[in-house]
Amino acid sequence: MDKIVSLAKRRGFVFPSSEIYGGLGSAYDYGHYGVLLKENVKARWLEAMVRERDDIVALDSSIILHPAVWEASGHVAGFADPLVDCRFCKRRYRADQIDQAQCGQRPSKRPGDTEQCDLTEPRQFNLMFQTRIGPVEETGQDAYLRPETAQGIFVNFKNVAQIARRKPPFGIAQIGKAFRNEITPGNFIFRTLEFEQMEMEYFVPPAEATQWFEYWVEQRVAWHLRYGLRESHLRVRPHDAEELSHYSSATSDLEYLFPIGWSELEGVAHRGDFDLTAHTAASGTKLEWVDGQERYTPHVVEPALGVNRSLLAFMVDAYDEEVVAERERTVLRLHPALAPVKVAVLPLISKNDDMVGKARALYEELRRAVVVEYDDSGQIGRRYRRQDEIGTPYALTIDEQTLEDDTVTIRDRDSLAQERIPISGARALVLDKLAADWTTPKRD
Ligand code: GAP
Repeated sequence: MDKIVSLAKRRGFVFPSSEIYGGLGSAYDYGHYGVLLKENVKARWLEAMVRERDDIVALDSSIILHPAVWEASGHVAGFADPLVDCRFCKRRYRADQIDQAQCGQRPSKRPGDTEQCDLTEPRQFNLMFQTRIGPVEETGQDAYLRPETAQGIFVNFKNVAQIARRKPPFGIAQIGKAFRNEITPGNFIFRTLEFEQMEMEYFVPPAEATQWFEYWVEQRVAWHLRYGLRESHLRVRPHDAEELSHYSSATSDLEYLFPIGWSELEGVAHRGDFDLTAHTAASGTKLEWVDGQERYTPHVVEPALGVNRSLLAFMVDAYDEEVVAERERTVLRLHPALAPVKVAVLPLISKNDDMVGKARALYEELRRAVVVEYDDSGQIGRRYRRQDEIGTPYALTIDEQTLEDDTVTIRDRDSLAQERIPISGARALVLDKLAADWTTPKRD
């Protein structure tokens, strides 16, 4: 994990938030490449959920919903973690992670030695961030920042079902921020206070729910593999009865082998009719499916994935170090559809105006189609290594021969093969390569 954190900072993917003030635990900011990578993760999810299907529509609901939503959903009563306090230093830990407790006032010489801590019995702490609506504190109304995007979908069920004219089975997909007051042991962006979720609620006739649950587990595994996660580092783990959330009758986690060990990457839950029934009872609006004589409350199957956790898994999986021609290199073997930059344009000698002119012209041509980076600073070897570290699949180099015969070299990030091609065909070739089927060479 340290290597990923260091690369993320060095190359401007992810920084600790508010760093000049010492950082804020469990909050991170995304730099240029982090933003591009995050946008690509979201775009690939939305493509798979909405663009490639006929049965799912998109939604963007508010972060702050009517507070009654969270009463009805069970989050006010039940969305809590058991926490323990250290009586000496007053630090707070998750009860399921006491092995990581370290007293701040009586530090142990040995990491993980909890004997130095005098811990209270576990108490339930609600994870929702509270705020108040209204300009006057006394007359304001309590509200919450959403801890999941899902409830915004359930409360819009009627609007969307009518307007989108879909019949179950159909789904509503949403990407957006969620907030949880988490106590975390600081595993980088794995668990943060603020994160983005990609959630899809799939509404089905009750008798078909189990079959759709299995279908969505398979679909979601396939999505992670399609964008390059190693099959041997991904597994499906069904929850046992004690682990199930208050709303769920079955859940399977897609777990990834993160540097911290096998951990939840995505959850696929069978939520039954819990949410629509709860909001019908609390709001008085019937959230059901009516079609002629047919009338029922659909059941819900929900795949829910964190954007940031997905980005972390893709970075971890793509990270590689190797020695080539007695030189070490670090390379992010990202799937091209995720790579922040698709191609780099590099004039071999930056002081040569003819080379720079040709390189700039090629860069201008390419940037209309894909994210491309122009770089003329420093030795060519260092420029290649920089592109390898941010995962750029191709580099086009303009050299002396370009000035003679209008050819350039195209360098492949993974094989390091270099090929000479006519400059006039470079754009089409790069686009063809990016669109082709892709298997990323990774070691197990
Ligand atoms: N609507 C269901 C739901 O929210 P969840 O398992 O609590 O289920 C879904 O969250 C996904 O959101 C997780 O699998 C994870 O990828 C991501 N996630 C949850 N809490 C997170 C946090 N504190 N930081 C980063 N990602 C988080």
